[in-house]
Amino acid sequence: MTATLIDGKAFAAGLRQRIAAEVAAMRDRGITPGLAVVLVGEDPASQVYVRSKGKQTVEVGMNSYEHKLPADTAEADLLALIKRLNGDPDVNGILVQLPLPGHMDEAAVINAIDPAKDVDGFHILNVGLLATGQKSMVPCTPLGCLMMLRDHLGSLSGKRAVVVGRSNIVGKPMAQLLLRDSATVTIAHSRTQDLPALCREADILVAAVGRPHFVKGDWIKPGATVIDVGINRTEDGLVGDVDFAAAREVAGAITPVPGGVGPMTIACLLANTLTATARVN
Ligand code: GUN
Repeated sequence: MTATLIDGKAFAAGLRQRIAAEVAAMRDRGITPGLAVVLVGEDPASQVYVRSKGKQTVEVGMNSYEHKLPADTAEADLLALIKRLNGDPDVNGILVQLPLPGHMDEAAVINAIDPAKDVDGFHILNVGLLATGQKSMVPCTPLGCLMMLRDHLGSLSGKRAVVVGRSNIVGKPMAQLLLRDSATVTIAHSRTQDLPALCREADILVAAVGRPHFVKGDWIKPGATVIDVGINRTEDGLVGDVDFAAAREVAGAITPVPGGVGPMTIACLLANTLTATARVN
C-alpha cells in the first residue's frame, strides 16, 4: 500500500485565499488587519521564517510591521516595544520569534504580550484557556495539523492518537487539540519505554521531536494517518522526523516534508491574525 499524500502546500494556498477574501471585505469597511513580528538577533532560520511571514502577510492584504532588534538588546527594551505594540490600535497580532537570546526570560517576554493579540497562542492565559476547553488563540503549527487531520479523516472521535514530542509550541497544544476533538491521546517523548510499540497503536501519529528520520516505517500501524512536523536541515536537504520512504509504504496517509505541515503554520498565523482583528472590530 502506498499512502495518500496530504498536500499541505495546496491546503495552505486555499486557506490563504479564503483569508484574503475576508481581509478584502474588512478593508471595504475601513479595517486593515496588522501583524507585528519581532525578531531579536540574527539566527539564520528565524530570519528566513520572519521574511516569509512578512511576505505572506502582505500577500493576503494585511499590514506587516517588522521589528528587528540586535542580539544584545536589553530585555527591558523588548518589553517596552511589546507594551507599545499592545497599545497600538493598528496592530492586531504580535509575534515574538523564538528562540530569544539566552539573556532573556522567554516566558516573561511572551506573557507581556496582550493575550488578545497573542497570535502564537503562547501566552499563559491562552495556554490555560486551551487546556480547559475555552475559546483561545491556538498555536499555529498544531492548528494546521488539526485542520489537515479533520480534512482527511473527518471526525477524530475515539481514534487513538500518539504525539511524539512534548514541546510547548507543538506537542502539548497538539495533544490538547486532539483531546478536544475526542481522540484518545498519549504524549510520548525521549524517555517513553518501547516507543515503537506505542506508536504502532496509533491511528493518528504526530511526530514533533526535531530529529531527522526518527520515526521508522515499522513503528507505524498499517493505514494510520501520519503528520510529520519535523523540519530538519541535513546534507540531503530538508527532511522530516519520519522516515518518509519507509512510512509511505505502511501509512494510509502522510504529510511530506517539505510541503506538508510547514506551509500550514504561516497560513494559520494569518488566520489567527484575522480572528484577533475580528474580535475587536
Ligand atoms: N520558533 C519556531 N516556531 C515558532 C513559532 O511557531 N512561533 C514563534 N514565535 N517562534 C517560533
